[in-house]
Amino acid sequence: MKTYFAQLEQAMAQTSSFDGQTAKIIHLTNAHGMTASFMDIGATWLSCTLPIEGQRREVLLRSPTMAEHMKQDAYFGAVVGRFANRIAKGQFAVDGKRYQVGINNGDNSLHGGVEGFDKKRWTVVERSANQVVFALHSQDGDQGYPGNLDVKVTYTLTDANELSIAYEAHTDQTCPVNLTNHAYFNLAGEASGAKSLDHMLQLNADYYLPTDAGLIPTGEQKPVLGTSFDFMQPKRIGEEFLTEPDQQTAGGYDHAFVFKPEVTDGISAAAVLIAPKEDVTMTVLTTKPAIQFYSGNFLAGTPGASKTYQLYDGLALETQYFPDGPNKPEWGLNNGVLSSGDCYQHQTVYQFEF
Ligand code: BGC
Repeated sequence: MKTYFAQLEQAMAQTSSFDGQTAKIIHLTNAHGMTASFMDIGATWLSCTLPIEGQRREVLLRSPTMAEHMKQDAYFGAVVGRFANRIAKGQFAVDGKRYQVGINNGDNSLHGGVEGFDKKRWTVVERSANQVVFALHSQDGDQGYPGNLDVKVTYTLTDANELSIAYEAHTDQTCPVNLTNHAYFNLAGEASGAKSLDHMLQLNADYYLPTDAGLIPTGEQKPVLGTSFDFMQPKRIGEEFLTEPDQQTAGGYDHAFVFKPEVTDGISAAAVLIAPKEDVTMTVLTTKPAIQFYSGNFLAGTPGASKTYQLYDGLALETQYFPDGPNKPEWGLNNGVLSSGDCYQHQTVYQFEF
């Protein structure tokens, strides 16, 4: 374990990050030999290892060095914000006032804009053997967003082999807030050569959000029934891959799936991912209304820990509010907008069985 941690530190904390200082790396371990490592840059979940058959299996994708981490646009393991996924043309209105935030993905704003939360240095405010708490102050006007926003993210590794992520945020002006973690999973192992398409997935979601060519939801909530987006029962991701125009537009799965409201209580299984050889199962429990299931369609050529990644070398399951929510008044749930005085509070748990 010690050697593994030392290698990770060597890779990510030898050279300086965005602000000229080196990253701070934090490791958590549990009673079963599972580990989870994090860094203060982006409050990033860097590594997750499971002890399987006497080996340490890394199930997260990441960059090989800090220098490469700073160049990638995959958002490996980072906390993304203020607003996860896209806001059309980076424009929205709150309280009758229009705002323009940074454009960094075609015509649109992605994952909080040019210098999103993934690129910021967070403060480690608490830590123990099984928990680390990161905090970030995002000042009024940061990336064009209104209000001073204070964010806290708590990662806990439990002895039930769960990695829990609790999110909290407060603002002094009404502002869109949609936080998630952008971990990429490969339950066969980061270096295994297995693809996202070889995994089995179940999503307790009966609607999905089709998108336009810029990956902005069209506004329609489409029933999954009878389509390649139906993951109500566990299905191999590759089984109906790219079979329909809604997938072809996105190069695969890169869509928000709307959970059945009854599974968003934080204790029900909202999503289940099963390793190709069925030796690892990851269950996702969450209080968030939707999940962005992204099958790794833009990964090709991105330098990774064990190799240069190719298409579908990992997949992301990002629990969140709906992309472009602030521009879709018909969607409800405050449209992903946090009022001043209110508290944004959510939790997602990734529970591993192996
Ligand atoms: C988006 C993808 C994007 C990826 C990496 C996902 O959340 O849905 O379209 O390529 O993040 O930025």
